[in-house]
Amino acid sequence: MKNRKIVILGTGGTIAGTASGVGDNLGYTAAQLGIEQLVDALPRQGNAPFALVSEQVAQVDSKDMDFSVWGQLAARVAHWLGQPDVQGIVITHGTDTLEETAWFLQVLLNPEKPVVLTCAMRPATALVPDGPQNMVDAVAVASHVGARGVTVVCAGVIHCAEDVQKVHTYRLDAFSSGDAGPLGYVEEGRLRMLRNWPFSGEQAARGPVNTVKLADAAAWSRVEIVMNHAGSGASVVEALVADGVNGLVVAGTGNGTLHHALEKALLEAQAKGVRVVRSTRCLNGRVLPRAGDLLPDSQGLSPVKARVSLLLSLMG
Ligand code: SIN
Repeated sequence: MKNRKIVILGTGGTIAGTASGVGDNLGYTAAQLGIEQLVDALPRQGNAPFALVSEQVAQVDSKDMDFSVWGQLAARVAHWLGQPDVQGIVITHGTDTLEETAWFLQVLLNPEKPVVLTCAMRPATALVPDGPQNMVDAVAVASHVGARGVTVVCAGVIHCAEDVQKVHTYRLDAFSSGDAGPLGYVEEGRLRMLRNWPFSGEQAARGPVNTVKLADAAAWSRVEIVMNHAGSGASVVEALVADGVNGLVVAGTGNGTLHHALEKALLEAQAKGVRVVRSTRCLNGRVLPRAGDLLPDSQGLSPVKARVSLLLSLMG
């Protein structure tokens, strides 16, 4: 009898998707198979040191991810992390908003144990599905003594929640850690680490997290993302402010630069109490602050992750 556990939480995605034929990698429906089915399909080693325990938290195509699922997921992750016999957690998730959920959990929980999100680019019914290997690799990371923090495992690569982004619409190796590079690789169940495990002292100092408020979707603030582009103007920002938005992340061009009309509207929004954060639509690099900046930058976060941080900050 194994007394230590790896908990596998299912949330849906292509990894749980099915198509009508094995040759169909596009015309499938995400989030169809239960987490038990996915776990049962994994190869079992009699001498594996941990028991696998599965729990279905949600069953969504991650393009439809919402605050209520995030609230439930955070509560279940916090619950399992608090169990002394749990070594680590694996979360199966769609690829489309995976980086947002990973960053949400990292900022919120800053776990001392490993929380590993994994996914698939092909449905479970594909001729050669990628989900089972990704799950096996994610379990290897979650089982690794010394692993900690929220990571993403896809196509044998371990990414840090802070850096990871989906960068490809189709390839199995769809994620990149950009300039930072991956945390490491999983090779035949062994980890080859290139960088240290994620840790944020700031969140650690904040103490235990109350996930009860998060479960109430109505308690969440409203933060929207606007983009700078040729011909940008004030109208989108003005409409959002009139509609009661609490925060705005702007995906600026280059080093967070903004069309003068958009910048004026954002400064007016900020003066009215709307929290504004300036990020960049560039895939790599970060907004480098300049003397006299009137809009705070995103501290290296992509627009979607800056939005997550701003949401959590606004919720206190
Ligand atoms: C999803 O994000 O749930 C669907 C797409 C995918 O998992 O690749």
